Amino acid sequence: MTVPTPLTRRALISAGSATIAGAGVLALAACSSPATGGSGDGSGSAPSAPTAATGTEVIKLSDIPVGGSKVSKIGDVPVVLAQPTAGNVVCFNAVCPHQGCAVGAAGKQYACPCHGSRFNAETGAVINGPAVTGLTPIKVKVSGDAVVTV
Ligand code: FES
Repeated sequence: MTVPTPLTRRALISAGSATIAGAGVLALAACSSPATGGSGDGSGSAPSAPTAATGTEVIKLSDIPVGGSKVSKIGDVPVVLAQPTAGNVVCFNAVCPHQGCAVGAAGKQYACPCHGSRFNAETGAVINGPAVTGLTPIKVKVSGDAVVTV
């Protein structure tokens, strides 16, 4: 037969601390994204680099509006491209540095549909967060009527 132990003030404080610590662990777990391993602080994992052979066509030049932007892919990697001036093309990995969603083309910006980060289409720099770093550039060049990997 077990004799019940009277609850002491120390036992109650100890039990309360364990509960608070447990709640903290749960709160931290809720902030991270299991799909990406992101920390929830705006510094998600680095996007993977495309592994396409040099000269792989990314998009037709005429498909990118001058002064605008467009989405495409290099293999399985989503990319965004902009043509700030005629024949001048830039390309970025479309994986958002916040938590890994694919950003979309939005004229002179790229927009992330998940948490609203926006990026400069020409430079890939963050215009507003929660992302704290810009998009990863990908080297491309214009070859004839196409944009190709370098
Ligand atoms: S994934 Fe959160 S803003 Fe893009």
